[in-house]
Amino acid sequence: MKVPLQADLAEAQALHADGRLDEAEQRYRLILEHEPTHREGLHLLGLLCHQRGQHDAAVGWLQRAVESSPESPLYRSNLGLALRAQGAEEQAVACFRGALELDSTFAQAHYHLGVAHLGQCQYLEAEREFQRAIDGAPQFREAFYNLGIALQRQGRSPEAIEAYRRALVIDPRYGRALLNLGNELHRQAAWDEALTVYQQLAEVDPASAVAEHMTAALTGVTTAACPAAFVASLFDRWAADYDERMVGGLGYRAPEVLRQLIEDHGPRPLHFARALDLGCGTGLMGRAIRSVCDQLIGVDLSPKMVAEAERAGGYDVLEVADVVTYLEAADEPFDLIVAADVLNYWGDLTDLFSAVARRCASGARFAFTTEVSTDEDVVLTRTGRYRHHRRTIERLAQGSGFRRCTQRDESLRREREMTVAGRLYLFQWFG
Ligand SMILES: C[S@@+](CC[C@H](N)C(=O)[O-])C[C@H]1O[C@@H](n2cnc3c(N)ncnc32)[C@H](O)[C@@H]1O
Repeated sequence: MKVPLQADLAEAQALHADGRLDEAEQRYRLILEHEPTHREGLHLLGLLCHQRGQHDAAVGWLQRAVESSPESPLYRSNLGLALRAQGAEEQAVACFRGALELDSTFAQAHYHLGVAHLGQCQYLEAEREFQRAIDGAPQFREAFYNLGIALQRQGRSPEAIEAYRRALVIDPRYGRALLNLGNELHRQAAWDEALTVYQQLAEVDPASAVAEHMTAALTGVTTAACPAAFVASLFDRWAADYDERMVGGLGYRAPEVLRQLIEDHGPRPLHFARALDLGCGTGLMGRAIRSVCDQLIGVDLSPKMVAEAERAGGYDVLEVADVVTYLEAADEPFDLIVAADVLNYWGDLTDLFSAVARRCASGARFAFTTEVSTDEDVVLTRTGRYRHHRRTIERLAQGSGFRRCTQRDESLRREREMTVAGRLYLFQWFG
């Protein structure tokens, strides 16, 4: 019988590190056949299963590793990781805490605990854990990156920027840190610095939709539309506290004023059989018109925004889709279509107007907001959003069969202490 030597484990580990998982697994299993409580064999086989996404198997092997070596903080912490992947977050947190009882300076466990706090929106606690992880492992780039997020979420922008920069000192090609650093600099209106970072991101990740779009926005190039991946990542990021931030923090009022416009110029009595909310987000617009619609459908590109809308309720149907794609596939007409603070994510609205027109019942209303351009037909601004001139909107609407129109200037919200100038439109379609 072959005796498992340290050399066997080293060979298995080398295969594992080389990504030759099947062969590595075979070696780990051979070691464990010979010595079923071989702690490192159990641990590494557990990690291999975790890597493959075989969560139950990973938990099983790592539990056995912990049983065979209860004094190891590493095994306990990695069991936590496998439990987290399995969806057992509470048990995972217990493992991270258990690891810290064994070694209070264990950086990995502090880090994973920080991630758990971040998931619970406990930003101060998350910050503390990431800081401890860094104290134990000063080159821990993910800890700096997540510390940046925890600080950003507390509104501590300069410190967040510093944390992302520290992550980038450790790894200058760390794409996620470049992305967050660029976005945070942009939010602080540090346009030139943000542009430099987005350009670095484009080098590291040529497929980055954010780098592509924001570079265009910051260099004065007006493109046709925000890339879908840009929109989805932007709003997925903000979904959790979108309502609070927009309404409470920025005085967002597009849904409220659009509802008033519809009320002032809608049918009497105010009632719609089938209404569609384009770019419904978390459902603020939907909730403003729900009481006057028999059926209300919401469509949005961002899965997390749609999940928030689902949670809040009010829609009969919600779909994650690009609105033009949705409209092209829809088969029944609508008598109200609304889009609050959405058309500013397109430069060229031609396809959108044609698609909306195709799904309008005769006499249907199309009510929406735009940000206002007073000179150019359309312009992509440094904010990353587009502004449209009223003549552009009127020309497009007429070309698509919309006739009667009411419009009104309104501030949509604040941004960096300034008012975002908006225009509300309500068109009627007669084909
Ligand atoms: C500023 S939010 C407005 C959300 C909502 N209408 C409101 O008033 O709160 C813009 C929304 O438009 C969505 N959006 C932008 N472009 C889109 C597209 N091409 N298709 C679907 N949704 C889009 C975004 O995902 C985001 O949820």
